Amino acid sequence: MADKDDIKEGKDFGIGIPQQNKPFYVKGAGALDWGMQNRLARIFNPASGRTVMLAFDHGYFQGPTTGLERMDLTIVPLIAYADVLMCTRGALRSVIPPSATNAIVLRCSGGQSILTELSRELIAVDIDDAIRINAAAITTQIYIGAEYEHQSIKNLVQLIDTGNRYGIPTMAVTGVGAQMKRDERYFSLATRIAAELGAHYVKSYFIEEGFERVCAGCPVPIVIAGGKKLPELDALTMAHQAIDQGAAGVDMGRNIFQSDDPVAMIQAVGAVVHSNEKPEKAFQLYQQLKARNVPDRTRVARSS
Ligand code: R5P
Repeated sequence: MADKDDIKEGKDFGIGIPQQNKPFYVKGAGALDWGMQNRLARIFNPASGRTVMLAFDHGYFQGPTTGLERMDLTIVPLIAYADVLMCTRGALRSVIPPSATNAIVLRCSGGQSILTELSRELIAVDIDDAIRINAAAITTQIYIGAEYEHQSIKNLVQLIDTGNRYGIPTMAVTGVGAQMKRDERYFSLATRIAAELGAHYVKSYFIEEGFERVCAGCPVPIVIAGGKKLPELDALTMAHQAIDQGAAGVDMGRNIFQSDDPVAMIQAVGAVVHSNEKPEKAFQLYQQLKARNVPDRTRVARSS
């Protein structure tokens, strides 16, 4: 039976103080339901409004990518510095400790490989499993202008509709076919199509010319992929330019896990994304952290 002893009548109702209904801070997400907004708040840090997503889903079509051969050794040490882990359910269940409290953005497409046509994907995860995994968002790729453009858009629509049913946001990834020109026209088109179809945020690539207009023309947040490995200062400069021109964060893989010091690099990226650190200062931070000479896993492995 409920304890009814010593129940006191409420008397402090804050009369005269209007209840606050703060607008939700994620771009284009003001009219979403509580569960959607809550999941987006796990992805986009409420303090900065931005996100550092660590992408390590590359194996779903290209196998053991450099830096991801042993995800237990290379990715697990980075978990503490990422807002989001973007990966497949296979990687998650096999190597990521369930005690990790990062938001999970689940790669839900598959069905092709580097040996076949990349745009020929299908939805490869059931929504039930995304819920079981406690995904904060689900994701698939659209290949605008590629051979299987239509199928990839169909995949996105399917994911958005099933996610909406359960309050799970969808991130659309703009996949770029080898024959596509990576320019303002292409990314404006691809990101806008994704947002108009209902994607809650979009992963794109940074471009030197016109990126600000790409972000402005997309009614939901854009995060940038890192792309191929660059020297650390160049990758930090790219992240800084993207943030400065309207990106809401990064979804970065190779430029972190293929860095000379991934733990230092992810912290330097975090300083750019969340604290508006200039690239040179962030690179200094990277060098300082690297110089601390924390034994890396290779040395530990060799000495044991
Ligand atoms: C690519 O297939 C994946 O979606 C990656 O998550 C994405 O490309 C980001 O990784 P990176 O920064 O290595 O380009």
